[in-house]
Amino acid sequence: MDRALIDRLPPPLPTERIIALNRPKTDLAEHREYEWNGWRFDVPPGVFLPGATSRIIHDRLLDGTIDVRNRSYAAMGVGLGVEAVIAGLRGARTVFAVDVHRVSVDTTRRHYRRLVAEPDDDSRFVGVVSDAFDAFGEDTRLDVVTFNPPAVRARVSDDPDVVRNVCVGAPLVERFFDQLVGGALLAPGGEVYVVVSNTADLRAVVGAGADRGLSAEVALCHDWGDGVLTYLFRFRQGSRA
Ligand SMILES: C[S@@+](CC[C@H](N)C(=O)[O-])C[C@H]1O[C@@H](n2cnc3c(N)ncnc32)[C@H](O)[C@@H]1O
Repeated sequence: MDRALIDRLPPPLPTERIIALNRPKTDLAEHREYEWNGWRFDVPPGVFLPGATSRIIHDRLLDGTIDVRNRSYAAMGVGLGVEAVIAGLRGARTVFAVDVHRVSVDTTRRHYRRLVAEPDDDSRFVGVVSDAFDAFGEDTRLDVVTFNPPAVRARVSDDPDVVRNVCVGAPLVERFFDQLVGGALLAPGGEVYVVVSNTADLRAVVGAGADRGLSAEVALCHDWGDGVLTYLFRFRQGSRA
């Protein structure tokens, strides 16, 4: 277990502060638009609108820091599908676009076909409606996995769509690691990137990977200047970093 790293992580912010920071800024029940890297995405009701935390992963997929070329890649909780689009364009061997929310998976497929593939060419794209990895068979092997989990530890709304997108909490990340490692879904040498802030229980998130034998390191820590610290963690199979 990476005890030294876990002990260094800050505790969660106070609950009132977390609730104030995470009040939904746009109405999830409405159709919205998102523009990034010259791409325009329509965002149907219920689908997560990417924010600055999302872009920590998007930027690194785009510049190759998270290297998916010729690798089997899963975007867990894919939402609008930006990760899947980038991975397709960066030459991932297979792109698993996973979300518990069917509309998010369908939206991702639509954007992937529009921006990456020839119409109806889904040969490298696998859309999976799944609660974490529940729908994955035993023979899947993933080289790279990314996850921007809804790990905020305070309930910021009673709207089930907001809860699904924002504040399911650390137990979802624990299940994610259980299935990934316990179900041998992560290939030897595989990498898992999880982005999470101190609005969540960072120690529980890192402990969940470390408890299951993964080595953990901080790939990035961003201080937004308002008390929020966002970490990109990299977990790896095999020897400790
Ligand atoms: C914070 S959003 C991230 C969306 C997108 N990846 C991004 O970064 O912009 C979390 C996503 O996780 C999905 N999600 C929530 N619970 C899930 C579960 N149990 N299994 C799979 N996906 C889940 C939500 O539907 C949502 O799309």
